[in-house]
Amino acid sequence: MQLIDGKLIAAQIKQEIAEEVTQIKTDGGKTPHLAAVLVGHDGGSETYVAAKVQACEDVGFKSTLIRYEDNITEQELLACVEKLNNDTDIDGFIVQLPLPEHISEDKIIEAIDYRKDVDGFHPVNVGRMSLGLPCFLSATPSGILELLKRYEIETKGKHCVILGRSNIVGKPAALLMLQKRYPGDCTVTVCHSRTKNIKEICLQADIIIAALGVPEFLRGDMVKEGAIVIDVGTTRVPSNKTKSGFKLTGDVAFDEVAPKCSYITPVPGGVGPMTIVSLLKNTLLAGKKTIF
Ligand code: GUN
Repeated sequence: MQLIDGKLIAAQIKQEIAEEVTQIKTDGGKTPHLAAVLVGHDGGSETYVAAKVQACEDVGFKSTLIRYEDNITEQELLACVEKLNNDTDIDGFIVQLPLPEHISEDKIIEAIDYRKDVDGFHPVNVGRMSLGLPCFLSATPSGILELLKRYEIETKGKHCVILGRSNIVGKPAALLMLQKRYPGDCTVTVCHSRTKNIKEICLQADIIIAALGVPEFLRGDMVKEGAIVIDVGTTRVPSNKTKSGFKLTGDVAFDEVAPKCSYITPVPGGVGPMTIVSLLKNTLLAGKKTIF
């Protein structure tokens, strides 16, 4: 069994991006600039956005954090998006989700200029991704693909089972693993909360991508010998063993599943660290105007 070290790969890619940014600056080019919009004070969102801003600093990007209280109106937030769309110094921006109930996330995402949508959530980017066209890929599926690539894991002709059908992980991961290129070329099965015989389906999988958000859903008796398991789960489970009072728990019962795997990602330190790197990669592409 080989552990897929997302933390290590993420650090390597950050180093590669930092070197490229240094070169861009030396050549007199524009420093990539990411803006992040944070509404309210959700603990998880605060942590993620702080990590994104820090990562920008680490690689030499410019970053701007825009904060609003959670009583901001949809109209005001749309005005902010419009301003960022028109700000020529900002190459890409994200609006951290979830948003308060009274604001339509779909409306906000659609208002973002797809050429600055470094989250890859805009329908234009999702549509282009599903057609295999150049686009901003959303962070988690992109991070998973990068890990498969960096570990040179063969995917062609493999049966990939995806657990979960969310718009930001399960659905795009399924489309990407299906595409006629590497990593991809898989036979893909998507399982979800209404799927019957999940155990039998998982037992046929060469690759399992677990993205249900159910802690330790995938047990040892659901995985065949030699499978590759990618764990996307990051549920905060209360714990008296950590300073923060919670423990990040994946969708995979790691101790049971790991001994059967050829490769497996841990939680934390697997897919998680790769997601911010994917955002940095998109911001670099946005800065270089490579895609649009
Ligand atoms: N909330 C959880 N993950 C994400 C993400 O990748 N982007 C944004 N904007 N919000 C999130």
